[in-house]
Amino acid sequence: MYKTPDVLSFGVVFLCKFNVYKGVFYVIIIVYVKITYNIGFLRERTEYGFLPILEAGMEQYVIKGGTKLQGEVEISGAKNAALAILAAAIMADDVVVIENVPDVRDTRVVIEAIKDIGAYVEQIDKHTFKINGKTICSTVVDYEYIKKIRASYYLLGSLLGKRRKAKVALPGGCNIGSRPIDQHIKGFRALGASVAIEHGMICADAEKLSGSHIYMDVVSVGATINIMLAACLSQGSTIIENAAKEPHVVDVANFLNCMGANIKGAGTDVIRIKGVEKLHGTTYSIIPDQIEAGTFMVAAAATAGNILIRKVIPKHLEAITAKLIELGCKVEEYDEDVRVIGSEKLGHTNIKTFPYPGFPTDMQPQISVLLSKCDGTSIVTESIFENRFRYVDELSRMGGDIKVEGNTAIISGVERLTGAQITAPDLRAGAALVIAGLIAEGVTTIDDIKYIERGYEDFDIKLRGLGANIQIAKCEKDIRKVELAIVE
Ligand code: EPZ
Repeated sequence: MYKTPDVLSFGVVFLCKFNVYKGVFYVIIIVYVKITYNIGFLRERTEYGFLPILEAGMEQYVIKGGTKLQGEVEISGAKNAALAILAAAIMADDVVVIENVPDVRDTRVVIEAIKDIGAYVEQIDKHTFKINGKTICSTVVDYEYIKKIRASYYLLGSLLGKRRKAKVALPGGCNIGSRPIDQHIKGFRALGASVAIEHGMICADAEKLSGSHIYMDVVSVGATINIMLAACLSQGSTIIENAAKEPHVVDVANFLNCMGANIKGAGTDVIRIKGVEKLHGTTYSIIPDQIEAGTFMVAAAATAGNILIRKVIPKHLEAITAKLIELGCKVEEYDEDVRVIGSEKLGHTNIKTFPYPGFPTDMQPQISVLLSKCDGTSIVTESIFENRFRYVDELSRMGGDIKVEGNTAIISGVERLTGAQITAPDLRAGAALVIAGLIAEGVTTIDDIKYIERGYEDFDIKLRGLGANIQIAKCEKDIRKVELAIVE
């Protein structure tokens, strides 16, 4: 029933040899978890009531491939706009209502982070939040938030703008690359802040912030937004040259202007900001998620389906639309919807990721999965991040034929992919592997779906609404049940 304490338990006791009480406490915890984990009836209870600590977060997707996606799906608010706008909302000492916030892990983390520094946050409904920064009582953002999502670093720009000081944990690298923040720091210093890295924290403070002319060495979405946040409450004018032009940069600028900021040129590579004294409350609705929409477009193409993707801004999807048409799909654009009609026989093409309006790096894994089933050989070049082919090994286990050389993938189309047990390496690679499961023969199980849930709201529910055979298994034992249900 229960194995003798293992090396871990002895290790803990050894480590606490000077403090036996601590050692005994840790051993009790380990024993509890092991018993819970090993006894059948507790497992049944824990299986449905709660998961043993060791299993929590072990949820998996179980997918039976072969269904053509049909019907319509509604796109949620843009995650990458929401993360910055939620951080910016605390800059006013006033009520700000934000609508169309996607209900995903990352937005929940930022909401916890702004609550933690004292902001008033009231959830009006699943996608609407009322926020007031008047009650902010700290300018220190705990590491636990940055550890969960890098975008907590937008609180650097918003707190520096609001309170002239901020202390935020230095974000680590992540699954797709080293992710430096030198351009953020360069911008803050140009505005007059002193910025130092101490004990893993970025410490920024300024007597006053003054406008500056900043030329970005690299086109950076995050740095462009963070500098905009700090500059909009600085004295004088700021020009950001070589600025990022992504839709969510424009959305953040529009939000700040609704709060009384004076920002012009967002969406071009030169953004001009006239600092204002203070910002006021507003109500703002976040734009639709360009990448979620693109993911469903590629899923329709890959399954040779026919779906209407609702609540999108077609202009934001142009690079993706162009490539799907090149491959032989039909794409119909309406005011706020796009329809994608796939085909059993698709050609091949070459992709090179670029900052907007180029082909988005966040769509590279998804389109590569599609290309793995197209006729001929396609070349995909990832020019933004240095480690964004982590899905390739998983796709090879499903029969994909992809060779990666540096930042280029050579993709030879194969007749079919076959289901396998795979793992989501990161958010977009995980979404791409779901598409692979949808087109593979047989059943695919995908581990670590917590990455996917960071950026896709109700992903399995939306896919089931389009006819996909996908379920979530809560733990190992569930898999068998779900697999049987899926296969029937
Ligand atoms: C944002 O990341 C997005 N994340 C990413 O989406 C997206 O892939 C990326 O922009 C590019 O579009 C959020 O918005 C939360 P960058 P960000 O700064 O801002 C280099 C997803 O899947 N760089 O535009 O961190 C950097 O190394 C995520 O939703 C510097 O050198 O990306 C990269 O090569 C993944 N110094 C390039 O710029 C800096 O100070 C672009 O990065 C900053 C960036």
